[in-house]
Amino acid sequence: MYGNDHEWANQTADKIYEKMKMSARRSENKIPYLTVNGIFDDCSDNISWWTNGFYGGQLWQLYSAYGDEIFRSSAEDIENKLDKSLMDYMGMDHDSGFKWLLTSAANYKLTKNPESKNRVLLAAANLAGRFNPAGKFIRAWNSWGGERNEGWAIIDCMMNLPLLYRASEETGDPRFSQIARAHADTAAKAFVRENGSVNHIVRFDPDTGEVIGAMGGQGKEAGSSWTRGQGWAIYGFALSFRHTGDEKYLETAKRSARYFASCIPESGLIPVDFCQDKELDWEDSTAAAIAACGMLEIEKYVTETEKSFYHETAMKLLKTLEEKRCNWDLNTDNILENGSVAYHDEKHNFPIIYGDYFFTEAVFKLCGKELFMW
Ligand code: GLY
Repeated sequence: MYGNDHEWANQTADKIYEKMKMSARRSENKIPYLTVNGIFDDCSDNISWWTNGFYGGQLWQLYSAYGDEIFRSSAEDIENKLDKSLMDYMGMDHDSGFKWLLTSAANYKLTKNPESKNRVLLAAANLAGRFNPAGKFIRAWNSWGGERNEGWAIIDCMMNLPLLYRASEETGDPRFSQIARAHADTAAKAFVRENGSVNHIVRFDPDTGEVIGAMGGQGKEAGSSWTRGQGWAIYGFALSFRHTGDEKYLETAKRSARYFASCIPESGLIPVDFCQDKELDWEDSTAAAIAACGMLEIEKYVTETEKSFYHETAMKLLKTLEEKRCNWDLNTDNILENGSVAYHDEKHNFPIIYGDYFFTEAVFKLCGKELFMW
């Protein structure tokens, strides 16, 4: 059974490579976010946008696995462009992990480039500076439609914590890791519900640290289950376990993963929110790919009897994406179709760059080609 999955993953990895060879040539000097008429857009002018590390990360995955120079040079170009964001205080929010783990930390891992290491440590120091000691959480954003948000934290931040773990590993200074663990402990209590589902946003009083309440954020409403947020929790807590060995993070990741698995529809296609109105056909392929990465990570740390549950769940998600939601046309830049940004947006079911990144990472994990960057 697993042998077949390995073969499937190898074949899918090669299909990703064939596509990326073409799209990387068409996309030199771009930092893609969305796809317009089959062609990647370019976010270079909005350099602090939170998704600006994903394409670089995908290029490093491809470079590490297949070695084509164009992947490396394009990834380095993105990393250099991101320096402008590092120098913009208001452009720096909690998403530094997404931006610099997948670019500079990847480059440093592969080439030992000292400039990349410097960027990783600067980004980590800025992220650590967002910690609120009263509430023991990392502040998410710098603004939200004009509302004060010094006390807002979001579940997505679990994916940024590895930047702090890595900074401690690199420098020997435990403060970064202590902050990451303090945030993860708070998130486990304040975001994760008894059944493993999670809130997207939790508001704290930034002065006292008291929890004020949860918000629906990019999901349907407070108390609902925005599927990408569920994915961030599954993978994020699994990564905190990987870096710390603290069993409670693995337990939390498993609880969220079991909840996610219990909500997967027969079709295998993931809605934008598990509490979504039944007549809506909105999907989030990105949530499926992120959750699959998390399940494959959990699979590594559980007993033999538990492994097959996480493995099979990941395979169902990935094979469904490959069969029904991958665009293998070599003239179209994106791989995954049918992502979504937020439940209350007007537009749904369109490609988004992080869907491609996490789909690639999951497939590469399965066939042993992954460059682990978290
Ligand atoms: N981190 C923002 C999102 O997942 O859309």
